[in-house]
Amino acid sequence: MDEAHVPETMMALRLTGVGMDSVQLQEVEVPRPEADQVLCRIECVAACASDSKIIDQGPEHSLMHGWDPAKWPVTLGHEGCVTAIEVGKMWEDKIEVGRRYAVQPAVPSAPSRHRERYANGGRGIRKIAVGYTLPGLFAEYVIIEPEVIGCSCMVPVPDDTIPHFAAALSEPISCVVAAQQHNFHVIKESPDAPRQPHLGLLPGGTTLVLGAGPMGLWHIEIAMSYKPANLIVSEPNAARRETAQQFFAARARDAGISLILTTPDMLENAIEDATSGRGVDDCIVALGIRAIQEQSFSYLGEGGVTNLFGGVKAGEEMIQVNARRIHYESISVVGSSGSDPSDMAQAMGMVAAGEIEPGNYVAAVGGLDAARDLLLAVREQRMEGKGIIYPNVRRPLQEISGWSAAQEVAFRGQ
Ligand SMILES: NC(=O)c1ccc[n+]([C@@H]2O[C@H](COP(=O)([O-])OP(=O)(O)OC[C@H]3O[C@@H](n4cnc5c(N)ncnc54)[C@H](O)[C@@H]3O)[C@@H](O)[C@H]2O)c1
Repeated sequence: MDEAHVPETMMALRLTGVGMDSVQLQEVEVPRPEADQVLCRIECVAACASDSKIIDQGPEHSLMHGWDPAKWPVTLGHEGCVTAIEVGKMWEDKIEVGRRYAVQPAVPSAPSRHRERYANGGRGIRKIAVGYTLPGLFAEYVIIEPEVIGCSCMVPVPDDTIPHFAAALSEPISCVVAAQQHNFHVIKESPDAPRQPHLGLLPGGTTLVLGAGPMGLWHIEIAMSYKPANLIVSEPNAARRETAQQFFAARARDAGISLILTTPDMLENAIEDATSGRGVDDCIVALGIRAIQEQSFSYLGEGGVTNLFGGVKAGEEMIQVNARRIHYESISVVGSSGSDPSDMAQAMGMVAAGEIEPGNYVAAVGGLDAARDLLLAVREQRMEGKGIIYPNVRRPLQEISGWSAAQEVAFRGQ
């Protein structure tokens, strides 16, 4: 315990109403933990496109459950890495002072505090979130509430070699880990062998990723761990195809995976060539366009699975599927949203093992005073990757291409 170094006040990026004008860096008291809470220092926090949704929707956001930030301001930020500083009595066996944790923001629990601030006194709430009604991470310190710890949403960083930014990025990466584990295949080694389930993408098969945006790139990287024979990526944007080529061509070659980068108009030919007309085993739709979701079924071979990773807008949720293909060719569809603590632990394990290079995805870094600018850049879609804020420094937003543990140490030290 190192209370001497905890200051009386700190800076925090707070939402005090609805809209970007209500996002302000404010000086607030550093809260001290009660017996069922933990005080953490925030090492870094990443911005996420969904920060804009709470800014725009305020009390209407589904994770706010009616809580009005105009009355009770909230601190934003939900993808981060923290160090435990003061541990309340209740958690002394579970949380270690000085240890780093990645935060799983989605907490499957009812709120334990401030129930009167929620609609209907908080009745019926089953999920709350850090950076929404629970204190967020665009700040120097954060109080971790008991429901976060009770639901195992403080995920220990397993290895000192994992930089803070990589631990923070384990949250978005874990959504991809979770999603790919929703694909499953029914395997039969021979006609007289029993059927066996296989969870995840089909090893030795053909995986297709539609869309090479930031999430599509992570899908490509994590798909390689399943060792498909062919990994086809369809993306209309030439710069994004080029990024995928730069990041993954050599690694795919070394792993014996044929990486095929193509455009939507050439995709059918590419699938025909790679699979001798059989169709793909796994398709991941890493974008939220209804027409493409529908089209994705046409790329599947017998027993193929399409994964609707991107969500479509409300009102666009009905799609058509060829029922004869489900019946005669056993094609199927899966989907998932978000992740849980086990997925984050797995994502950090993959980082430690060198299977994921999270530094590739960092496009901007800054101090806490740059947090608002970063959220604006994400809102205006000026970011081609993730932005990382280090709350212990004060520096403007700096565009970069790639980031490493050594660069992080130097940046935080300045
Ligand atoms: N399921 C989850 O847990 C989860 C988590 C995070 C994000 N998402 C969703 O994942 C999706 C992708 O996120 P992103 O940040 O990479 O989005 P993005 O919009 O940056 O990327 C989508 C990419 O698809 C490409 N594209 C457009 N039309 C195409 C076509 N016909 N064929 C192939 N590619 C095409 C675009 O050029 C773009 O590069 C979003 O819908 C997002 O909401 C899901």
